[in-house]
Amino acid sequence: MKSEELSKKKFYQWLPEERRNFLEEEGIELSKIASDTLTRLNTLSENVVGQVRLPLGILPRLIVNEKSYCVPMAVEEPSVVAAANHASKIFNQNGGVEAVSIRNGIYGQIVLEVAHDFDLVRFTEEFPELIELANRKFASLVKHGGGVRKIEASRKDNLVFLKVLVDPAEAMGANKTNAILEFLGNKLEKQINVEQTMYAILSNYPTQLTTAKVSLDINSVGGPKVAKKIVLLSEIGQTDIYRAVTNNKGIMNGVDSVLVATGNDYRGVEAATAVWANKDGSYTSLSKWSIANDRLIGTVTIPLAIGVVGGSIKARRDIQQSFNLLGKVSAEQLAEIIAATGLANNFSALLAISTKGIQAGHMKLQARNLVATLKANEDEKAKVLEKLQESKQYTQEAAVRFLDEIRKEKN
Ligand code: MEV
Repeated sequence: MKSEELSKKKFYQWLPEERRNFLEEEGIELSKIASDTLTRLNTLSENVVGQVRLPLGILPRLIVNEKSYCVPMAVEEPSVVAAANHASKIFNQNGGVEAVSIRNGIYGQIVLEVAHDFDLVRFTEEFPELIELANRKFASLVKHGGGVRKIEASRKDNLVFLKVLVDPAEAMGANKTNAILEFLGNKLEKQINVEQTMYAILSNYPTQLTTAKVSLDINSVGGPKVAKKIVLLSEIGQTDIYRAVTNNKGIMNGVDSVLVATGNDYRGVEAATAVWANKDGSYTSLSKWSIANDRLIGTVTIPLAIGVVGGSIKARRDIQQSFNLLGKVSAEQLAEIIAATGLANNFSALLAISTKGIQAGHMKLQARNLVATLKANEDEKAKVLEKLQESKQYTQEAAVRFLDEIRKEKN
C-alpha cells in the first residue's frame, strides 16, 4: 500500500507486513517470520510485527495426587527446568505431591455512588433476585458448572462496595466475569438512591487457592543435617523479607513457566501472589519446610486463577501442544500441577543453597548461553563448553579466549 494511503489508517489497522516494511525502512532489523504465522499472531494481539519465542522444556514425570503428568515449562532460564526435574525425581521417590484446592470462584467489584438516604439493608434483599437474573442471562456459564455465587456489600460514606463471587468453571473467567459485572452494574444503577455505578471490574484479589504438600524421607534429601539447613532457610524466609522474596521468586520460576506454557495469565497470578504473601500484614515466604518423624515436610499455597479453556488457549497451537503433553486435565488438576511444580523449584533451590551453593549448577547451564553467542562452528562450541565447565570460568571473556586457543591449537 502507498504511504499516503497508509497514513490515513491508524497504525493498529495496518497489516503486519505493512508495519514490518515501515520499520525496516526506518533501518530496524527484524527476525524472519513465516507469513501465515504473522497473520495468525495478528489475530491474537495488537500492532503485531513479529514474535518472541521461548524454549519449551518438560518435567517428564511429576506425580500429583497419585497421577503422573508430563509438565510443560516455557522459560528461558535453563536452571529452572533442571531444578524442577531434580526435585520431581526426589518427590516421585517419596510418593509424589499431594495437593488440594479451594476453587469457589473469583471476585468482581462493583462500586456505586449512593445518595444520603440509601438503605443498604433493603438493597441487599435484592441480591438473590439479581444473582438469578445474571445466571439466567449468562446461562452458558451455568451450563458449564459456573455462575454467580454470592454478592456481599459494605458502605463507606457515599460509596457502596459490592463483592461479587463468580465461579468461572473451567476457565480463568476474566472476560465472562467482567461482562457479568457490567451487566449487574447497569441494573444496579437503576435502583433507588443509587446515583451512579463508579466502576465494575474483576478483582485479582487472591482466590482459587491451591496447596501442594510433600513428605520426604530425610535420607532422600541428603540426611538430617541437610534437612535441618533447609528448615532453617525456610524459617529465615518467614521473617526476613530479603530471603522471603527470593524464596518466592524460586517458587514463581516453576509456577510462571507452567502458566506461560499453558497460555494462562501469569500477570494476574503474580499480582495475586504478592498480596497473598502479605496477607497477615508482613511479606513472608509462600512455602514452609519442617521436620516431623524423620521426614522433611514442605507445603506451599498459591492463588491460581487459571483455566484450561477460554482466552487464547484454543487459538494457539503452541499452547495446544502443552495440553497434548499434559493429557486431559481439569482446571483444578492443572492448578495442582502448577503448585506442585512451584514447590519442586523451591525445594531444589533450598537443597542447592544448603549444600553446594546455587552457582555450581546455574553456571554450568549458563555456560551453554555463553557458547551460543560465539561465532563458531558446532565442534568449536562443544570444545569451548567443555573448557568453560572444566575451568569453572563462566564469563564471555573466557569463552572468547578458549575459542582463540582452540583455533590456534588447530593451526
Ligand atoms: C533463582 O532463579 C531462584 C533462586 O534464587 C531461588 C531461591 O533462592 O530460593 C535460586
